[in-house]
Amino acid sequence: MARHDDEHGTGSTMSTGAPAPSDRHSLTIGPDGPIVLHDVHFLEQMAHFNREKVPERQPHAKGGGAFGVFETTGDVSRYTRAALFQPGARTDLLIRFSTVAGEMGSPDTWRDVRGFSIKFYTSEGNYDLVGNNTPIFFVRDPMKFPHFIRSQKRLPDSGLRDNHMQWDFWTLNPESAHQVTYLMGPRGLPRTWRHMNGYGSHTFMWINAAGERFFVKYHFHTQQGMAFFSNAEAMAMAGSDADFHRRDLFDAIARGEHPEWVLSVQVMPYEEAKHYRINPFDLTKVWPHRDYPLIRVGVMTLNRNPENFFAQIEQAAFSPGNTVPGIGLSPDKMLLGRAFAYNDAQRRRIGTNFHQLPVNQPRVPVETYQFDGHMAYHHSGAAPVYAPNSGGRPWADRTGRMDDGWEADGEMVRSAYTLRADDDDFSQPGALVREVFSDAERDALVETVSGALLGGVRSPVLERAFDYWKSIDPDVGRRIEETVRRGHAPEPAAGMSES
Ligand code: HEM
Repeated sequence: MARHDDEHGTGSTMSTGAPAPSDRHSLTIGPDGPIVLHDVHFLEQMAHFNREKVPERQPHAKGGGAFGVFETTGDVSRYTRAALFQPGARTDLLIRFSTVAGEMGSPDTWRDVRGFSIKFYTSEGNYDLVGNNTPIFFVRDPMKFPHFIRSQKRLPDSGLRDNHMQWDFWTLNPESAHQVTYLMGPRGLPRTWRHMNGYGSHTFMWINAAGERFFVKYHFHTQQGMAFFSNAEAMAMAGSDADFHRRDLFDAIARGEHPEWVLSVQVMPYEEAKHYRINPFDLTKVWPHRDYPLIRVGVMTLNRNPENFFAQIEQAAFSPGNTVPGIGLSPDKMLLGRAFAYNDAQRRRIGTNFHQLPVNQPRVPVETYQFDGHMAYHHSGAAPVYAPNSGGRPWADRTGRMDDGWEADGEMVRSAYTLRADDDDFSQPGALVREVFSDAERDALVETVSGALLGGVRSPVLERAFDYWKSIDPDVGRRIEETVRRGHAPEPAAGMSES
């Protein structure tokens, strides 16, 4: 066995860089005596170990990721001036895939939506696209998000996950129907991360060189083909290899199999958004492709594994608020809520200066007036710490109309979005069930939903769930109710009298 114990630094070191005395024996009074307080190496090891973990992400705790490159092969320069989307541009990137509800150690193959977060290290700063493997979401007002996530996690008393709580939330928020249909269908159980699509989900803004604005939706189509697990396969895998998806991606890249996705966008001219028959900023809706066909942008390839999972994946910090010139947000209230939430989560989870860590650091010079704080590493020396200043340090001074803005007027209210002609919660999920799912997928949907409802959903949530599914599709709803009633006598709701 190799020994690394000489005093000349061939072994390990302390965090100060000085040679460590021993990684195997603490310093004691004689071989059997007490440990002494000045064994600094031992004390530092113990103290650092106690601080070794950072809090896991509140949602999307379990995941994995890789590095790669995006190459713009199409020409979308008439829609955006963003450097990364100009013909021929190649941009390094980091991607992280995840589940939403499970904790850090939870199985990868539990039925759930999958996160699909990309950080593009562009020549104009970092651009983050923090999406999912579905083109829509459960709710359309960010006020509901913490309630939604809690309903999918654990009961306050037993600490157990609970179908009743999940369906209670969903059926009381019927705008969830579209996403719940996706979730209960095949996309709720992707076979691997390599075999699923990714979506920006929200509507974003693109701005071209002339300052013209467009609204866009991002679609990443897997070139490995879509593939799914059945309920039985996913359940067996959850027991035999809880890290199956993380392992699959790492092993594939290590073998030299570099997965690819083609990015296409749907583009809606700015003015059309004001009158389109579906609210284009409602995150529970897709834009029909016959109205807004896909336009090919380029190809994403994942080609490099992390060298250190903690430093490069756990400490990775994505935020939908991180945009670059030529790309903006949109009036989607969910997106506006998210623009605040992520950086705040990361200041708590990782620390004030999380953006200075190598994995989060932009590849362009940073000239920020954010100062000091825990673990400040990059600094601006003695340059002025205020703006404007007479010391020659640049500051920003744009005024007037913002080219990534939009018009808004009216009284301040708390209200749902104004409904458009074709806005309703059930047409799109109904079309998904009837026109997109195959017969076998519809059968599996009935089996999956019935199984979930049989797993402890009580009255009155159970009856609401039958109505919810009948509103999505009368036939599927009837079959779910029949299956459940055959297998289950509803219990009274907790706290209700049985008289
Ligand atoms: C108002 C709504 C939402 C809020 C407040 C919210 C908040 C959060 C927070 C706090 C995190 C943890 C961030 C961290 O600790 O680094 C997170 C992670 C994530 N969220 Fe959201 N979220 C919202 C909606 C969405 C939507 C609509 C999507 C997808 C379209 C999404 C996709 C993700 C993904 C993929 C991650 C994991 C990021 C990573 O890989 O590090 N979230 N969200």
